[in-house]
Amino acid sequence: AEVVIVQDESEAGDLIAGSILSLIEGRPDAVLGLATGSTPLPVYRALARRVAQEQLDVSRVRGFALDEYVGLPAGHPESYRSVIMREVVEPLGLTPSRIHVPNGDLATIQTASDEYEDAIIAAGGVDLQILGIGRSGHIGFNEPGSSFASLTRVKTLTESTRADNARFFDSPDDVPMHCITQGLGTILRARHLVLLAFGSAKAHAVAAAVEGPVTASQPGSAIQLHPHVTVVIDEAAASELT
Ligand code: F6R
Repeated sequence: AEVVIVQDESEAGDLIAGSILSLIEGRPDAVLGLATGSTPLPVYRALARRVAQEQLDVSRVRGFALDEYVGLPAGHPESYRSVIMREVVEPLGLTPSRIHVPNGDLATIQTASDEYEDAIIAAGGVDLQILGIGRSGHIGFNEPGSSFASLTRVKTLTESTRADNARFFDSPDDVPMHCITQGLGTILRARHLVLLAFGSAKAHAVAAAVEGPVTASQPGSAIQLHPHVTVVIDEAAASELT
């Protein structure tokens, strides 16, 4: 992987927004892989600013979210569909019907994974996948033990991930138990992976992903199997790299 160490989150946001802008300029219907959580927010903010400044036409851009909670009521403000609409689609002015999020509705959960895989394939695959990483080493919601060949499927969230995400909910008990997530195999099919991490809490997971052994106990290490990876981290997140 190419590792870029930045001063702060806003430098990371500007850098990656620049790559995404060039991608869209060359390919107006580019397919973006969208992560949620706190990490990618500086990218989305920088992107919204640049798209407005340069009056870039993003109406044909397509997007696929990495994951979604299972069983939240439709329209819940913390569903990843709501978050992607609020943080990405609205500020950038993307076309909502071109942005896909796995369907975490319990009534149709049996078929949702295959449908999502089919939709990614029908779109021709993801051009640039933005990734965050969890303290446990997860990417998407592929917790330790996930197969490198895994495709979109329903998973149980670990207690540590539920605790990490409790900040978005009224009470820790409100964090769903299950999620539907792109698999590591799905993520590895994207043409370019951009992994971001900030802060010392991510240092161990970053070191394991970038230079640890390739092992299912560190899902982030799957990026070592991909030929085109950019890792953008601050000093604190880089502190356990040798
Ligand atoms: C989110 C996702 C997760 C997060 C990870 C880090 O779609 O797939 O892998 O990227 O949990 O979360 P933050 O960025 O909130 O620290």
